[in-house]
Amino acid sequence: MLHQIKTTDDGSHTLFVPELNEHYHSVNGAIQESHHIFINAGLEYYLNNSYKNNLQPVQTINILEIGFGTGLNALLTLIESEMRSINVFYNSLELYPVTIENAKQLNYPTLLSKNHLQQKENITDLFLRLHNSEWEKHIDITPKFTLLKQQIDFSNPVQFNSSKLFNIVYFDAFAPEKQPEMWTIDVFNKIFSLCDTGAVFTTYCAKGVVRRILQNEGFRMERLPGPPGKREILRGLKCQ
Ligand SMILES: C[S@@+](CC[C@H](N)C(=O)[O-])C[C@H]1O[C@@H](n2cnc3c(N)ncnc32)[C@H](O)[C@@H]1O
Repeated sequence: MLHQIKTTDDGSHTLFVPELNEHYHSVNGAIQESHHIFINAGLEYYLNNSYKNNLQPVQTINILEIGFGTGLNALLTLIESEMRSINVFYNSLELYPVTIENAKQLNYPTLLSKNHLQQKENITDLFLRLHNSEWEKHIDITPKFTLLKQQIDFSNPVQFNSSKLFNIVYFDAFAPEKQPEMWTIDVFNKIFSLCDTGAVFTTYCAKGVVRRILQNEGFRMERLPGPPGKREILRGLKCQ
């Protein structure tokens, strides 16, 4: 796919795919959206919920991401893993990897080093390591963050298997109107089977039909307020 770089309203970049007439993130703010949906409603919620239930801080989590794309969710999660001192196994699936030339142009390291008061060179280096890391291999990006990127067509989910159960799923496929094959019963049935008890599923899509499929598969679903420009998002919990 051919990608064009665009700047969203919070100043962070996103990619635009002309063939699909689709952006990778909300034009209202890419970092803002990813942080709201995947970090706050996903990672942070999972950590707080697990602590409430077990009265012990979580030390290791397994995250499944559908759509590695720009690597923004991976970078945000890596930063969290450092700040919170938790071990993360991050398994990300992607059918159309972005080129390293595209990745180098993205301004996430510059913007995030301002927010997190970390060395820009350090975040840039980590971001490029996420992109350059070999596919189909477990790569320790840091001592706390292990990445496994796999080039897989997840619209045919039988192709994917994992020896681990996941605690968090970031479902970040293109919208159902653009890629209906990614929002099917088969896809969500597979995801449910890959989740551990207590797992949290998050996505930016709040469509009723998607919520009902997820609910039928077994997730306890809730609608949450979305980031600016988006009324609602969905979160699912695998209770048992
Ligand atoms: C909305 S973008 C988000 C990507 C990423 N999470 C990010 O923040 O940049 C959706 C991603 O799903 C990927 N994708 C599209 N079809 C796919 C498929 N059949 N299997 C796996 N990934 C797919 C796209 O290439 C794209 O990277």
